[in-house]
Amino acid sequence: MDRRHLSSTFVFLLFLSFFSEVNSASFKIVNRCRHKIWPGLLSGANTPQLPTTGFLLNPGKSRTVTIPRSWSGRLWGRTLCGLDSTRKFVCLSGDCGSGQVECSGSGAKPPATLAEFTLNGAGGLDFYDVSLVDGYNLPMLIVAKGGKGGNCSATGCLLDLNGACPSELRVARKDGGGVGCRSACEAFGDPQYCCSGAFGTPDVCRPSTYSLFFKRACPRAYSYAYDDTTSTYTCASADYVIIFCPPPYSSQKLFGERKDGAVLPLVNKSMIYISSVHANGASLSGLLRVQFTVSAASFAMALFLFWQHIFPL
Ligand SMILES: *[C@@H]1O[C@H](CO)[C@@H](O)[C@H](O)[C@H]1NC(C)=O
Ligand SMILES: *[C@@H]1O[C@H](CO)[C@@H](O)[C@H](O)[C@H]1NC(C)=O
Repeated sequence: MDRRHLSSTFVFLLFLSFFSEVNSASFKIVNRCRHKIWPGLLSGANTPQLPTTGFLLNPGKSRTVTIPRSWSGRLWGRTLCGLDSTRKFVCLSGDCGSGQVECSGSGAKPPATLAEFTLNGAGGLDFYDVSLVDGYNLPMLIVAKGGKGGNCSATGCLLDLNGACPSELRVARKDGGGVGCRSACEAFGDPQYCCSGAFGTPDVCRPSTYSLFFKRACPRAYSYAYDDTTSTYTCASADYVIIFCPPPYSSQKLFGERKDGAVLPLVNKSMIYISSVHANGASLSGLLRVQFTVSAASFAMALFLFWQHIFPL
């Protein structure tokens, strides 16, 4: 190879790396749960496919996925997965029905907490939200990094709602432990809850006592179909960190309302106790609740330092 050829190859590679840099975002997916999760990814129609559609993520581990800039789709976590008697891969929550770890174009079976993205949408902005419209199965946080323009706020649902879930919405495993909390639409199929039929417009479909259960605990998350104004966030040319089971106190401290300009808090402090509600649905007494709050406050600083050590944002 002569020098001219070499240098043009170099320029070409430089161009290629620059090109791929501006045309992709990175999603760092982090498992801070004490158990294994299997993230699933589903691309929207007419959007580029991803290098992976599902994988195992052990506790404390993370994996970064390169996402095309024009991508739209959703991401969720599957729990309690394994092989059934016919050697098909199945999960107790968030199952995508593919029979394998990769979801290969199938979405989550409700209830599942969803992270939804439309990258490089209207006005060149990324639109993102955490949705409980299809119910809830895991706490989740989205943090935008290095973006410019838009509100770029952190969003998510930081509390564990599986224990506190109203009994008529609750999904439990055989031993009684909660694995998910259905939306009222999914549980009752009523147009009033699904915002369908005669309830198909924002002025007619209003929040219900069920959607308010989710909204009070997770003020920034979508709680029903027309919850857009308080639940959709935007950022331009950002990378995203998606954290499963983030610690609520340290997250609130780092991404509290004052810091990122969002109107609603990330965590409703007066409801943090519901995360400590036992899996069998028994609630803590008022006294225990106060004690929990006090001891949690003294742990907050330690968690805060711990967090910064692990995730220098
Ligand atoms: C926080 O929770 C309380 C008690 O459920 C509720 O009254 C209040 O509206 C909630 N705050 C937000 C911002 O949702
Ligand atoms: C974020 O910004 C978008 C437009 O850039 C706006 O439509 C949306 O309401 C904002 N969200 C919040 C919760 O402030």
